[in-house]
Amino acid sequence: MAARGVGLLSRLSMCTQRSQVLRPIHRRLSCPGTVAADARGEQPSSGSSETGSEDRTPKKRFSEVQKERREQAQRTILILCPNKISEKKFLKYLSQHGPINNHFFFESFGLYAVVEFCQKESVASLQNLTRTPSMGTEAAIPFRSRFFNLKLKNSSNETSEQSCIPCCNQSPPSSKKLFKLLCDAESIDDQLNTLLKEFQLTEENTKLRYLTCSLIEDIAAAYFPDCAVRPFGSSVNSFGKLGCDLDMFLDLDEIGKFNAHKTSGNFLMEFQVKNVPSERIATQKILSVIGECLDNFGPGCVGVQKILNARCPLVRFSHQASGFQCDLTTNNRIALKSSELLYIYGALDSRVRALVFSIRCWARAHSLTSSIPGAWITNFSLTMMVIFFLQRRSPPILPTLDYLKTLADAEDKCIIEGHNCTFICDLNRIKPSKNTETLELLLKEFFEYFGNFAFNKNSINIRQGKEQNKPEPSPLHIQNPFETSLNISKNVSQSQLQKFVDLARESAWILHQEDKDHPSPSSNQPWGLAALLLPSIAKSVSHDKKKRRKPASERIKNLLESIKSSPENSTNTNGKRTVSTQA
Ligand code: CTP
Ligand code: MG
Repeated sequence: MAARGVGLLSRLSMCTQRSQVLRPIHRRLSCPGTVAADARGEQPSSGSSETGSEDRTPKKRFSEVQKERREQAQRTILILCPNKISEKKFLKYLSQHGPINNHFFFESFGLYAVVEFCQKESVASLQNLTRTPSMGTEAAIPFRSRFFNLKLKNSSNETSEQSCIPCCNQSPPSSKKLFKLLCDAESIDDQLNTLLKEFQLTEENTKLRYLTCSLIEDIAAAYFPDCAVRPFGSSVNSFGKLGCDLDMFLDLDEIGKFNAHKTSGNFLMEFQVKNVPSERIATQKILSVIGECLDNFGPGCVGVQKILNARCPLVRFSHQASGFQCDLTTNNRIALKSSELLYIYGALDSRVRALVFSIRCWARAHSLTSSIPGAWITNFSLTMMVIFFLQRRSPPILPTLDYLKTLADAEDKCIIEGHNCTFICDLNRIKPSKNTETLELLLKEFFEYFGNFAFNKNSINIRQGKEQNKPEPSPLHIQNPFETSLNISKNVSQSQLQKFVDLARESAWILHQEDKDHPSPSSNQPWGLAALLLPSIAKSVSHDKKKRRKPASERIKNLLESIKSSPENSTNTNGKRTVSTQA
């Protein structure tokens, strides 16, 4: 369940001409904002990275967003189109089944259209007029899904009227483009916001994610008619990067529940069911069957793997048309709740997402994270570290989970498998932070904070927002916010943690050096975030190690200590340490 992200920025190919925009010596400081666009129900690409104004627009609850998007997806279809097609005629042809609310095209080994009807009935109408193809030598499994193939009866007519179909981009920017954008930015704050804007999920990509879940739900509904397949993780928690995996949760909990209170008289009717020895075995059996269905009947579902012996059993597959790597789990309601919690944190202050995206990209650029499971840090753990760091600022930028629990109403009460997952769900009732630190300062301080964190004895805990003694000896201990006996980073090895610490120290050092040196705009040198994403610092760490010198991290730690104690780094009136940006 890990993301694919930005590849390593190759140093030579990246060193394009520095922009003509001169970066001011006193970089522009942006004020903190408050709300992510998703929470306003807007397109995530339209200004969620804005800073500088307190947004008073009411923010949508996570459950409201999920409900709206799910309902929207149920009215939506996916069509593989011929490459040469007239958009106008295509829409006219489809509108015979009812009005169309929204549509877009994208390319993924073919031209695809996502078409959202105004009414669900239009989908049924289209299905009734759709035929199952005759396959010649092969045989087709006649499954009536919402994934269609559009064929031209006479391709020559159409070609003459085709227009260029605008396609929505579903991929993150190339390293080259990203590098250029970062080098052209006006300040480090601007760089972080640019990176967020380029990497965050677009409105179309989000719609495609909900549609893919809805298509899988249709398949699962063959066995469990009232089930729901809900996206969770980075697809919905506001921290997803373009290209991230699609975590899905097969929700069977609603089945049969709604009838219980309607029973009258002294009778109560129950379904005859098969009993199995444990919840885990039930989960494995259900996922095994759904995995078979996806493999045998799921249009576009390929590479289906049943990973049923994992701590959290899952079915992994690729959804070819959307290009998503999907992980389907069931009995995983706590993960959905932690997605909601992260969504709230992401929406409380616009600096949160900008910082998380940059740290995730930084970690990916230095191979601290990987799309392959292993002993490395995950994006989920990195997000927790950023949240924890922001809780530790003075004044805090984010509240603790315990505080969010104290704000909860009776309707927010949520106990899952004996774990108390209660917190306030109405974002509008959480007061914005008074902290006005810039992203530039936060980025630097993040690296310094974790470059010097006592990982050997302390645990990271966003519930209390303070370090705790580690309850077990794993190198990195980050407490699961709801299943508090679990360490979400149990997989991380000592060497991977050390690599993280070394890189954090190196990065803090680079940013401090830049403050002192102010590289000239004409020097063609990558600066700020762009400099941090280059692989050179990782190389210098391993190079130093090979030479058996005093570790780079030690030297940098000492240098940082000397910067801290130097008089140019003063303490401001709030008692916060500030770092001078003067040369
Ligand atoms: N999760 C968890 N404990 C873990 C790993 C994952 O509770 N040790 C839950 C989290 O809610 C997480 C979700 O499962 O968000 C999906 O996991 P994963 O795909 O690894 O993380 P994402 O947050 O989706 O990030 P990415 O973009 O890397 O997929
Ligand atoms: Mg994920």
